[in-house]
Amino acid sequence: MQDRGSMKIPWAKPYIGRSELEEVKACFDRSWLSMGQKVEELEEFASGIVGSSYGVAVNSGTAALDIALKLIGVGPGDEVIVPALAYIATANAVLYQQARPVFADIDEKSYCICPKSVEHNITDKTKAVIAIDYAGQAPDYNALRDVLGKRGIFLIEDGAPGLGGSYRGKPLCSRGDVSITSFHMAKIFTSVEGGMLFTDKQQWDAVARMIRSQGEDPSLKYHHPVLGHNYRMSDIYAAIGLEQLKRFDAVLNKRAVLAQHYSQGLSSLNSMVLPRVLDGNKHAWFLYPVLVSDRDKIAALLKAEGIETNISWPMPVYEQKIYKQYFKEECSVAKRITQTVLCLPIYYEMTEDEQDYVIDTLVSLLR
Ligand SMILES: Cc1ncc(COP(=O)(O)O)c(C=O)c1O
Repeated sequence: MQDRGSMKIPWAKPYIGRSELEEVKACFDRSWLSMGQKVEELEEFASGIVGSSYGVAVNSGTAALDIALKLIGVGPGDEVIVPALAYIATANAVLYQQARPVFADIDEKSYCICPKSVEHNITDKTKAVIAIDYAGQAPDYNALRDVLGKRGIFLIEDGAPGLGGSYRGKPLCSRGDVSITSFHMAKIFTSVEGGMLFTDKQQWDAVARMIRSQGEDPSLKYHHPVLGHNYRMSDIYAAIGLEQLKRFDAVLNKRAVLAQHYSQGLSSLNSMVLPRVLDGNKHAWFLYPVLVSDRDKIAALLKAEGIETNISWPMPVYEQKIYKQYFKEECSVAKRITQTVLCLPIYYEMTEDEQDYVIDTLVSLLR
């Protein structure tokens, strides 16, 4: 048993196995380091997992979001509804198009965008809604589709935290008209940095590939019919990402076990709200978010005991300096969650000793 006094527990920790290292070496041996065989393999493997017809690998989840909004033609004068509880990248993608972000409140239980609040915020300028799979679970996609479908508004799934979860039996990261995920270092599956865009539309797949690579016509080198970016992914990163995804079930099963152990170990704490999984959802458990009053104090006390936590996120996006001008009305649920949410350490290699240490420390702090 590890001495508790010496424990240093991060909130997230990537697991990099031997096969990742071997595949990276193989890239160097092949002397082809970007947009090669490994990127293609990653695209095929990942789209198979999420059940999407097409998958385009890019160098970040943010790049994937940017392309997603371009594919559906968001531009100046359009409004895009995003959850008030979001990572800044989600809202930034709207500003990149010179469109207007409109903030919707979140659901009390899942902390994902609330379909009723979406409906309340729709105007004749609303072009799309971006829904985040907060912490690894889905919003009520059926209810969202009911609200959007009849009005012809597009749904983008920001599945940066969602890969591995499912909604009513269907994998996350393919619930939107366009969906994206992130392979950032702290995510469940990482390629160091990276992301992917998923769609069932062949035309969008083709355009996404062009935007990723400076708008180049794939059949005519150095001819650029559309404005693009350098959003290309390296083969080294793709090789790492692919090896990660080959451990898909093992990693997700372990996270589910960890989440369950937290839920059992912390169930006696009346002052803490534990995460709830909505009916029909399979949670990916990217985060294990609890709600506590005195959150900042608890986080500091845990830190002093060697336990790192994560606050996703500390304020509604409309309170960020560059978003204040887009404030319309307070999103009271999102506001409350930002003041109380604390995400506990969860990672593939977390040991029972480490997790029991987190649980026991919390119990002694809060009882
Ligand atoms: C909800 C959400 N969307 C988008 C992103 C952006 O992904 P990336 O960091 O790969 O650009 C993140 C990253 O953490 C995220 O949490």
